Order: sequence, then C-alpha cells, then structure tokens
Amino acid sequence: MPPIPKAELHLHIEGTLEPELAFALAARNSVELPYLSEAELRAAYSFSDLQSFLDLYYALMAVLRTEDDFADLADAYLARARAQGVRHAEIFFDPQAHTARGLEIGTVIEGLTRALDAAEERHGISTRLIMCFLRDESAESALATFEAARPYLDRIAAVGLDSAEVGNPPSKFREVYARAREAGLKCVAHAGEEGPPAYIWEALDLLGVDRVDHGVRCMEDDALVARLAAERTPLTLCPLSNVRLRVIDKLADHPLPAMLDAGLLVTVNSDDPAYFGGYADDNFTGVRDALGLDDETLRTLARNSFHASFLDEETRAKYL
Ligand code: ADE
Ligand code: ZN
Repeated sequence: MPPIPKAELHLHIEGTLEPELAFALAARNSVELPYLSEAELRAAYSFSDLQSFLDLYYALMAVLRTEDDFADLADAYLARARAQGVRHAEIFFDPQAHTARGLEIGTVIEGLTRALDAAEERHGISTRLIMCFLRDESAESALATFEAARPYLDRIAAVGLDSAEVGNPPSKFREVYARAREAGLKCVAHAGEEGPPAYIWEALDLLGVDRVDHGVRCMEDDALVARLAAERTPLTLCPLSNVRLRVIDKLADHPLPAMLDAGLLVTVNSDDPAYFGGYADDNFTGVRDALGLDDETLRTLARNSFHASFLDEETRAKYL
C-alpha cells in the first residue's frame, strides 16, 4: 500500500540533515567535523533529553554556509517527504542558529525558498515556511531577528518558538508575537514537550497561537484538555521524537489514543527525522504498530493534518 497522503506540520529543516549530506557539505565548505565517518556520527545519535539532542543539532549546522547548502538541504527533505506520502509541508527554520555563526538571514531564506518554490513542480508538494525564535536566546534577539526578516515576510507564513523549553516560557516572547500577528503572520509555538502545562496556557493566552507544537503534556491538566478540545486547537505530535528525547519511554506508552478520545485535534509529524529514526510515514506506521491504530484512525490523523494546516480553505478542501 502506498503511504497515506498527509501534511507535515512539525518539521525542522535543520533536523533533516542526514549524515551523508553533512559530510558532503563539510567537504564542499572545508568544514572539519569532529567525527571520522557517517557511521561514527550516527552512533552519536543517542539522547538523554532535549538539550543533549540540541547540542549535536546546533553543532552539525556548521556545515551549512551558502544559499546552495540550504536549497540542497530542503530539496533532499522534500524528495524523502514525497516518498512518505507528504503532499503539503510547513517547514520550520532557526535563523538565529545561522546568523550567530555569521551568516546573513537572507542567505538562509533565499536558499530555502529556492527549493520550496520548486517543490510543487519537482515533488508535488505545496509548502509554507515558519520562522522560529530560539527561546533560550533573549526576547531582544527575537525582536532583532524579526526585524531582520521584514524584507522577506512575503515568504514566511508563520512564526514559531523552539529550542530549550524549561525555564524559557512563552511569556518571554509576547512582544515579538504581537508584532508578527500585526504583520499578518500565523503563530505557533513549541509548548508542553518537556515544559509544564502552564506553558501551553501561556502559548494560548499570551501568544495567541493558532497551533501548539507537541503539547503532549496537556494531558496532565483536565481543564487545559477541555479548552484545547473545545477550541479545536491543533497539536502537532511527534511520536518518534518523544521516544528519542525520552519524553516517553516507548511508543506503546504514547498518549495519542487518549488524546483522540479526549476530542483533541492531533496530528502526527516527524520533528527532526534525520536524528530520530524516521520521516512522516515512519511516524504513522510506528504509532499504528505500537498502539494498534486501525485504518479509520490513521485516516482521521491524515485528515487532521490538512485541517490543521495553513493552506487556504479551497486547497484544504481537496484533501478532506
Ligand atoms: N529544535 C529542533 N527540534 C526541537 C524540539 N523537538 N524541541 C524544541 N526545539 C527543537
Ligand atoms: Zn520541534
């Protein structure tokens, strides 16, 4: 059976950097990697929590230097995504992780949009770009990043919030989210991955997010679940990521079935697939097998992904 058509709504483009491409870009840009081989790099993909992953994720970005690098990275992801049934992808990028290394924000955005603009024709995938702020950087840095991106806002659909969650609550980023909304952008934020349910409340009430990324920890707060269900706020779950970053012990423990039972609008996504052992359909088949989901439930998850997307009403309707 071909993979079920789906939208991917939680995907960090830097998290699609496979070891093969990392070594190819390192050679192209004369960047020395502290690993002798792809196998040795892959062997380092054993994480104890979010921070232990982020340390490697940021370090490996050193190989991304030019517009071509970002275009090649995105094109490689889109080819893999299509093979996994992805028809629409809303893609995160972390500009501050690149500008901190001396790159221009325009290099990153021009490179990514070159690949995204060609995606419909080359891969049959429609795309949106979501610019994330690093929550472990300052609110001022997020504001400066937003202003640096102003000339490119026509290419950006939404802003997001990622990186080390605990100790960096959504409330820190109220001002930049207000500015983004004023500029007509949608808003999403990682919340309730490692952080407490209170961070999800803040993302809703203080940032006015249209979707919550992860949000798994909402299940610890009945009033929050009721609110998310009543407002049909989408949650972009990433099951394989949750296991690899030890949010849960094993896929069979994932609260996805309980979340569906609670009436939550959940979607299944891949987060950082090069690091977590699977792309979009690998996450679908992973939860199917571990949780015994039937075909109707898988169709619901796929339908939810389009429903929760930022596609216009008419295009979305084609998939529902
Ligand atoms: N950046 C890349 N992947 C992330 C994740 N799962 N959580 C927070 N920040 C991230
Ligand atoms: Zn993420």
